[in-house]
Amino acid sequence: MAVRDILRMGDARLLRLAEKVESFATPELNALVADLSDTMRSQDGAGLAAPQIGVNLQVVVFGVERNPRYPDAEPVPFTVLLNPVLTALSEAVEEAWEGCLSLPGLRGKVPRHVHLHYAGFDQFGQPIAREVAGFHARVVQHETDHLWGILYPRRIRDLRNFGFSDVLFPERVE
Ligand code: NI
Repeated sequence: MAVRDILRMGDARLLRLAEKVESFATPELNALVADLSDTMRSQDGAGLAAPQIGVNLQVVVFGVERNPRYPDAEPVPFTVLLNPVLTALSEAVEEAWEGCLSLPGLRGKVPRHVHLHYAGFDQFGQPIAREVAGFHARVVQHETDHLWGILYPRRIRDLRNFGFSDVLFPERVE
């Protein structure tokens, strides 16, 4: 379909509560999912949420095969997730570096639940329910945060753990 412009931090549209999807498998929804996938892949993103392209709906896409932006990440299956509901399965929280296509060039160390159950629907209305851990759980929490208007810097506990990728990780090529 199309690669869309990604809104950057400072744009008020990234701070809204996204609305639930009420109608599945519509042409508009299929086009939105295609645009999100194309845009995510064009930027080597691990995920992208509809609010990041200015669409205020509870729609996220994510997935990682081998990704130069996340060279150490375990694979995450490509997933289209609508109206997600997240439940932490343990108290365990882990900090790790995250980036976001709405904050290009930056990374921050963000605490996330390690063990997670998530449920929702794909764009055709088929239910999704998974128990995941580690990087997969992190990606889902990051993308779902976009639906509540939360960008990852709000989650950083110590802002000394926030900076430019090429300064933090000079050995990595992006
Ligand atoms: Ni993001």
